[in-house]
Amino acid sequence: MVSKELKKARDYEAGKMKEIGREERPAFHLTGGCGWINDPNGFSFYRGEYHLFYQYHPFSNVWGPMHWGHAKSRDLLHWDRLPVAMAPDTSCDCAGCFSGSALTLPDGRHLLMYTGVHSDIGDGDDRERFQTQCLAFGDGVNYEKYEGNPVICPDMIPWECRATDFRDPKIWQESDGTYRCVAAAMTAERNSRIVRFRSTDALSWEYDGVIAESTAQLGGMWECPDYFELDGKQVLCVSPMAMMPEGREYHAGHNTLALVGDEDPVTHEFCRESMQQIDSGIDFYAPQTMLTPDGRRVMVGWMQAWSNSKFVPPGVKYFGQLSLPRELHVRNGRLIQQPVRELMEFRTEAVILKNVGMGSEKRAFEGIEGRLLDMTVTVRDLSELKKLEIFVAADSTYHTSVSFMPKRKLLRIDRSYSGYLYDIVHTRDMDVETENGELVIRFVMDRYSLELFIGKGERTATLSLFTPLSAQGIYFRAEGKTVIDIEKYTISELS
Ligand code: FRU
Repeated sequence: MVSKELKKARDYEAGKMKEIGREERPAFHLTGGCGWINDPNGFSFYRGEYHLFYQYHPFSNVWGPMHWGHAKSRDLLHWDRLPVAMAPDTSCDCAGCFSGSALTLPDGRHLLMYTGVHSDIGDGDDRERFQTQCLAFGDGVNYEKYEGNPVICPDMIPWECRATDFRDPKIWQESDGTYRCVAAAMTAERNSRIVRFRSTDALSWEYDGVIAESTAQLGGMWECPDYFELDGKQVLCVSPMAMMPEGREYHAGHNTLALVGDEDPVTHEFCRESMQQIDSGIDFYAPQTMLTPDGRRVMVGWMQAWSNSKFVPPGVKYFGQLSLPRELHVRNGRLIQQPVRELMEFRTEAVILKNVGMGSEKRAFEGIEGRLLDMTVTVRDLSELKKLEIFVAADSTYHTSVSFMPKRKLLRIDRSYSGYLYDIVHTRDMDVETENGELVIRFVMDRYSLELFIGKGERTATLSLFTPLSAQGIYFRAEGKTVIDIEKYTISELS
């Protein structure tokens, strides 16, 4: 049944979408039909296609009562929009359908597990935001909320869990058929705990312990947990709010963390061995992963930051994009990310330059320009190089720069001149490691974003751009001498 709230969202979206032109959207990154989007949700493979949902407020460009928007794809790059999947329309989720995940049930139905937010339970501060975990079943287009909702409540946790901070279930099925999920919870002392539940039928759940806990240093609420096995290690991804800065690795505020370790096969306890920022750029939050049918662990994040998202540039007809899906690996305790290999199939118009000598003169190269591209720059010969600057989305007014300072092992991104004229974060510094005296930087650009994959993907940096599309230039400049290779492809527009 389509509720009146869902119908209203679907009708509104259908009308508004017509006002958004093709060039106003990215070519190969997912955006909402209209209005506002945040976290990716329900990333899954169902009946031969990838499905990706997102936190959605279609009615304006700012966050509001959360719906789930929906799209599907065969190649993880070109997304077909589907009707809004869920609206806040039941007693369990009347204040919002918050983030969650999806899987296919043995009977062929698509299961969505999400956080229902009530406005009618609790007192005082708790009144608006009581959070429980809920289910919906569907056929890949239409979804019915489960009449047994909620299926997980904070009082199933044997310690005092704040009823207002219990959300973002990530569900999966073990090889023995058991269902498990992890969710973000918070103690009365306001430490975040990632809690696990188990179930034999995905309907009735029991508490299965805490797998990790935040500390003051590592932030308040750990939002949007994801927990998976990869390359023989166990990985826990979380998005901590209000984290302390630490060197160039973590900045003050919201971060994205990957904790890598092992799980005890008997107690299922998670033992963390290492930790890193998932993305060192400006706009990347709340990532979620899925396992593809060919066994790849693929991650998508929200390509925005909460702190910047209050500033929606005038004239923008929708707000928020999701990142490129990224293939993950773990090597030497680090999460490695690369764009999904499907991107290679859309590379056209190769321009390959080898052994280009660089000095202080600003240089442009024929065919090296554009806003839809996949470009790898290999910086060789670091002995005399003080700084290499690469300017993209550039013209005489605008540019976004990536600067590499090898002596300081520093990479800096700067979008101060991108046309995004608000007093928000525009630069970030990050540590980079060279390998065999070289640094590889892969630039994946869509109309309104830049994603950098550095080295073999040990570090990534993502930022959204509002630079006018007329700024198509790419320039290079060095302080001190170096030699670079450039391999640039245009990414073809969808048909
Ligand atoms: C993360 C988050 C989630 C929540 C959702 C609400 O960005 O705060 O914890 O479920 O957004 O839209």
